[in-house]
Amino acid sequence: MPPLREYRPSDFDALWALDQICFPRGIAYSKRELREFLELPASFALVDEDNSHVAGFIVATVVEEAGYIITIDVHPDHRRTGLGSRLLTAAESRLSAAHVEAILLEVAVDNEAAIAFYKRHGFQMLRRLPQYYSTGDDAWRMAKPLSR
Ligand SMILES: CC(C)(COP(=O)(O)OP(=O)(O)OC[C@H]1O[C@@H](n2cnc3c(N)ncnc32)[C@H](O)[C@@H]1OP(=O)(O)O)[C@@H](O)C(=O)NCCC(=O)NCCS
Repeated sequence: MPPLREYRPSDFDALWALDQICFPRGIAYSKRELREFLELPASFALVDEDNSHVAGFIVATVVEEAGYIITIDVHPDHRRTGLGSRLLTAAESRLSAAHVEAILLEVAVDNEAAIAFYKRHGFQMLRRLPQYYSTGDDAWRMAKPLSR
């Protein structure tokens, strides 16, 4: 299993294409949104490559005292193999080293797979955000405290 690697600008189109596969229209990022997230000063992205194809990636950042998972995308052919967990664990280590107190994220309330995944990783529902997405769908804000 090759190690995760840092995002490179030449990965951009592959990441965007995978995001379109992973999320429904209106929740998947536009190219502009994804680029803006990747270019935030504190952002980082980790990539898993399988025979020159991006099998999964995670984008995270730091906002004030909190770490923030912007997205985790695992290609459907690679799900339930532990890849999402590897990506999240690696990002948590990076955020922990940045001395954040907690990690936050938003997830669509009907995204049962992701909610189960995040709960398995120690995240809890914090509050429901009405009409968070442009589709009108609500999100859960989930959080995980990090021990210092
Ligand atoms: C959510 C997602 C990242 C999980 O990635 P993954 O590589 O399949 O996750 P893992 O294999 O590491 O799963 C770890 C655990 O999470 C839970 N889990 C993951 N997918 C699940 C599902 N579809 N249903 C129920 N539990 C699930 C399980 O407890 C799983 O352990 P198990 O396989 O031993 O039962 C992946 O489904 C995905 O990319 N979905 C589309 C994009 C998305 O919703 N991203 C998250 C919102 S930002």
